[in-house]
Amino acid sequence: MAKMRAVQVSRAHGPFEIVERDIPEPGPGNVRVKVQACGVCHSDSIPKEGIMPVPYPRVPGHEVVGVVDAVGPGVVAWKVGERVGAGWHGGNCGYCGNCRRGDTFACQTATHITGITSDGGYADFMIARSEALALIPDALTPEEAAPLMCAGVTTFNCLRNSGARPGDLVAILGLGGLGHLGVQFAAKAGYRVVAIARGKDKEPLAKQLGAWRYLDSQSQDPAAELQKLGGARVVLATVTNAEAMSAVMGGLGVHGRFMIIGAVPALTVPSLQLLTFRQAVQGWYSGTASDSQDTLKFSALEGVRSMNEVYPLEKAEEAYQRMMSGKARFRVVLKTGN
Ligand SMILES: NC(=O)c1ccc[n+]([C@@H]2O[C@H](COP(=O)([O-])OP(=O)(O)OC[C@H]3O[C@@H](n4cnc5c(N)ncnc54)[C@H](OP(=O)(O)O)[C@@H]3O)[C@@H](O)[C@H]2O)c1
Ligand SMILES: [Zn+2]
Repeated sequence: MAKMRAVQVSRAHGPFEIVERDIPEPGPGNVRVKVQACGVCHSDSIPKEGIMPVPYPRVPGHEVVGVVDAVGPGVVAWKVGERVGAGWHGGNCGYCGNCRRGDTFACQTATHITGITSDGGYADFMIARSEALALIPDALTPEEAAPLMCAGVTTFNCLRNSGARPGDLVAILGLGGLGHLGVQFAAKAGYRVVAIARGKDKEPLAKQLGAWRYLDSQSQDPAAELQKLGGARVVLATVTNAEAMSAVMGGLGVHGRFMIIGAVPALTVPSLQLLTFRQAVQGWYSGTASDSQDTLKFSALEGVRSMNEVYPLEKAEEAYQRMMSGKARFRVVLKTGN
């Protein structure tokens, strides 16, 4: 049987191991994707560090771009050779109450999370459910498209559902993998974009990505500065630190909405402030394949691009540590060399 390379984690806090596996066959409703590139996301720490229960060994990776290599029985949506991407949302059952109402993201019976409940894209081949795939526009290379499958769709989809309208003051908190895409999407959507990050060094890049103002959260009080600008309609919080989020909540304007994207375990909210100014705190994650499709199309049309550091698949450990160090500018992508 033909073999492939895969990078797996065998236990919580364990190392990435490069192993040889049989190339998997797609079952009913499934598609085999020949992986070309896979982004490395902070959420890959879930299988790597065992933050959620994960069946081990597990191949991480939920920013997968490749080519349809084979289709399983019953698949009519995809043909061999088509360029596709798979994200965090790994599919839905199609028949539970929520699916039948069209709320496929909230599927009750099937919790398909790419790279968590099924093997992901740190490999030469991956099996995906047919409904979990999005078509990649010709304008995007595999390395450009990969980060859009999680970092991109999460920030794009969150912003477009946040209630902000063109001209509104929108703050993007954190300039990492998600944040640097968030700034671009927000700028292209016509918001007045304030980027907030630690230190002065990210200011020129933030401006280059489309930020109207930059706030250094180490030398300025970001909440007070946002109030001087009239108060934010939306804050998109991509940071991994709860105190950093709390420090910006005071910058919301009347009817402002604080959108939590960064995975922080708990957060203290200023309840009287929320009550007085009719503000809201809301969590958001990812999107369905059609949300990914919209993200890809918008990015191709508007020139939104992830800035990437590219590593070969064999260097997954180094790539992951680089992403976790916070020093990557800005997304880390594994290239399989196919
Ligand atoms: N909701 C979803 O669907 C979804 C999807 C993908 C990822 N996530 C989560 O989003 C978060 C960001 O992911 P990522 O891939 O963009 O990570 P990343 O590239 O490592 O970026 C991390 C960000 O957190 C900030 N940060 C880290 N430590 C901080 C501290 N002590 N104080 C203030 N800021 C701090 C950094 O801020 P600076 O810019 O100031 O350095 C950076 O912007 C992660 O928690 C990830 O799990 C959620
Ligand atoms: Zn992710």
